[in-house]
Amino acid sequence: MRLVFLGPPGVGKGTQSAVIAKKHAVPHIATGDILRKAICDETEVGLEAKSYIDAGKLVPDEVIIQVMNDRLQVSDAAAGYILDGYPRTIVQGDALARFLLESEKKIDHVFYLGLDEAVLVKRISGRRLCPSCQTIYHILHNKPTKDGQCECGTSLIQRKDDHEDTVKNRLFVYEKETAPLIEYYKKQDILVQIDADGSLKLVSEKIEKILKEDPSLSSSD
Ligand code: AP5
Repeated sequence: MRLVFLGPPGVGKGTQSAVIAKKHAVPHIATGDILRKAICDETEVGLEAKSYIDAGKLVPDEVIIQVMNDRLQVSDAAAGYILDGYPRTIVQGDALARFLLESEKKIDHVFYLGLDEAVLVKRISGRRLCPSCQTIYHILHNKPTKDGQCECGTSLIQRKDDHEDTVKNRLFVYEKETAPLIEYYKKQDILVQIDADGSLKLVSEKIEKILKEDPSLSSSD
């Protein structure tokens, strides 16, 4: 199973990708998580990415394409994966297509999650993240058992790029750079549009229904 989750910041890509990845036992590969870890570890990629992420801009294509080509060759990705946050530009979409062609693989579905901007902003402002295991919470909709603390025991944080001005810029960049991928994947006939309004469970059920109805997925390698 190879899936892509596409959609604006805060729509629930990370939340839904994690649920589906766990259920189907495939790795959840999230570019945001990879880049935040690189920043934390002060690697070369992290040092380059930091200023872009803090400003709500996209990290340059050549950097992210190299990171993802390396990550997709790790053995755990051989039997499939869920991509969360990649591709995010047409150039990245073309790079992924080349990568897949070389390994004779294909993307099964691109789930495009859509939601009103006002709801997106509420989801982002209430988000809390575990910096250790990357579990995503919400102060109203997906609370941890213990206030401010992840189930793994680490204190939750608010992402630096979740502050109002940066969020506005991320939404602007999404419309300009990432939204064209909707048409790109529609033309390839692999786009599935999901209304991301409603509870976490309801949205998961909509995605799961599509997966269950696809007979090719049970045998997809
Ligand atoms: P990234 O971390 O990928 O951020 P994003 O795409 O902006 O997406 P978010 O993580 O903000 O939102 P999400 O859709 O995953 O929502 P979530 O599930 O958390 O990227 C960060 C930065 O890295 C980028 O800005 C860029 O600089 C760089 N970057 C990353 N990839 C790149 C690439 N390919 N190229 C270049 N640069 C790249 O949910 C949000 C909140 O809502 C949570 O609190 C959650 O609990 C809650 N929630 C979720 N679903 C529901 C629901 N159904 N009901 C109620 N609450 C819900």
